[in-house]
Amino acid sequence: MSVPVLSDAWTSAAAYESYMGRWSRRVAREFVPWLAAPAAKTWLDVGCGTGALTEALFEFAAPRYIVGADPSAAYVDYLRRRFRNPRLCFDMGDGQDLNFDDEFCDNTVTALALNFVPEPRHSVAEMARVTRSSGTVAAYVWDYACEMQMLHYFWNAATALDPAARDLDEGVRFAICQPEPLAALFRGAGLRDVATCAIDVPTVWRDFDDYWSPFLAGQGPVPSYAMTLSEERCASGFAQRSPSRRMDRFRSSRAHGRCAVRADRFRGEVCQKSKSLKTRA
Ligand SMILES: C[S@@+](CC[C@H](N)C(=O)[O-])C[C@H]1O[C@@H](n2cnc3c(N)ncnc32)[C@H](O)[C@@H]1O
Repeated sequence: MSVPVLSDAWTSAAAYESYMGRWSRRVAREFVPWLAAPAAKTWLDVGCGTGALTEALFEFAAPRYIVGADPSAAYVDYLRRRFRNPRLCFDMGDGQDLNFDDEFCDNTVTALALNFVPEPRHSVAEMARVTRSSGTVAAYVWDYACEMQMLHYFWNAATALDPAARDLDEGVRFAICQPEPLAALFRGAGLRDVATCAIDVPTVWRDFDDYWSPFLAGQGPVPSYAMTLSEERCASGFAQRSPSRRMDRFRSSRAHGRCAVRADRFRGEVCQKSKSLKTRA
């Protein structure tokens, strides 16, 4: 079976929430306290999506102001309708060309988005540029290659049926999402005292549908791929594995009811800026 060229779709806030937002939200609640940032600061959330991290910042960091930026018009629209608060502002924006002045904010964060930016190195440099001296630049990404178990189950099944799907496996696609390469990226952007550690979050599903149906909602890499698996196209693939057989596989796997997802988190401090650091990447 051939594999289509995919663009990762970010077009439905409700679908994203049930697919990934709900797990990112749990990671965000552990991530924000780890930053140990003083209160009353201005924050920028790059690739804010449906607001998982923005919301945790609002709840746990006592911010003065948070700006969320994301290229998805649908997500930005959702956030503007959901959060009507003068301390929150949402706008469309590209993570590797941030439309903000140098030293615009005190801290810049990004959740599960760095690997979707075509040039993550530029994005981290941009985050350092718009953050004040001694502020924090921080990120978390899924540990796709190892402990993002919920996606492993999917890609293991997909590649068993369709070896070409391997190239779409996020563990293969997003090699940057590992502690060493990302920490090096942070240091390369001139950030100091770079720290990293994992956050493990249990994922508990009510039943198979609770696990499976978000994969059919079309947001991000797995659902974009799953949406292409029509019965007709997959005559010799997934379709022959009937839903009940997939259900059996799920029941007998460790994914039944509960497994875990791991995110790797990173933070670094912006050095005192010289003129050269203040120019765009
Ligand atoms: C997996 S979602 C993460 C959303 C949210 N931060 C969260 O934790 O749930 C990836 C996000 O990256 C955004 N994204 C894709 N390309 C981007 C880019 N070039 N710059 C900034 N964000 C981008 C998508 O629109 C999407 O909202």
